[in-house]
Amino acid sequence: MSTKLIAPSILAADFGNLQRDIEMVNNSEADWFHIDIMDGVFVPNISFGMPVLKTISKHANKTIDVHLMIVDPDRYIKTFAELGSNILSVHYEACTHLHRTLQAIKAEGMKAGVALNPHTNINVLEDTINDIDLVCVMSVNPGFGGQSFIENTFNKVKQLKELIIKKGASTLIEIDGGVTNKNAKALIDTGADVLVAGSYVFKSEDQPNTIKDLKAIANS
Ligand code: DX5
Ligand code: ZN
Repeated sequence: MSTKLIAPSILAADFGNLQRDIEMVNNSEADWFHIDIMDGVFVPNISFGMPVLKTISKHANKTIDVHLMIVDPDRYIKTFAELGSNILSVHYEACTHLHRTLQAIKAEGMKAGVALNPHTNINVLEDTINDIDLVCVMSVNPGFGGQSFIENTFNKVKQLKELIIKKGASTLIEIDGGVTNKNAKALIDTGADVLVAGSYVFKSEDQPNTIKDLKAIANS
């Protein structure tokens, strides 16, 4: 079985010590940097934008997984490629022409991801799953870190895994929101490949060790 991945969410980092926190992730057993971009329109919060991502890219030495929580993401695909994004996820709910958006992301040399809000059924991806490199299953309503995990996520992961197998797709399943050592193993056993963890990592006493433990649980 392929290695299960851990992606610390920089939204929960200490922005006053951003370089320090990036180096912590660089030197940890984490696999990816998860970067949340919010526009205050698609979600009721604004996180950070291009100059901050530029700084993160400059120091980060692992895959940069960007999660766009913005309306009309097509406007910025090229910009995010130039800023060093390796994976670019757009929200299903924010795309009128999802298939076109996915092609545009790939044309810029990035992996194409689709994020689904907790209310959005997996079956909306039936006709695009073979074009999607990663599905980000939101296990909280997007907009804020530190929220509690929505249990129905397990049903969605199960359905998504079935869809991927049925269609012969190679899509990765990422879980985003409220991930801890308590639900990590069950999520992986249900079909998840990548676990995003923000508060659980950055609010812990020993961050590298928390990442190490999560990675060990995910691969146990
Ligand atoms: C929520 C973001 C998440 C968030 C996860 O809108 O997409 O990536 O940073 O944070 P935790 O792990 O604290 O729920
Ligand atoms: Zn996210």
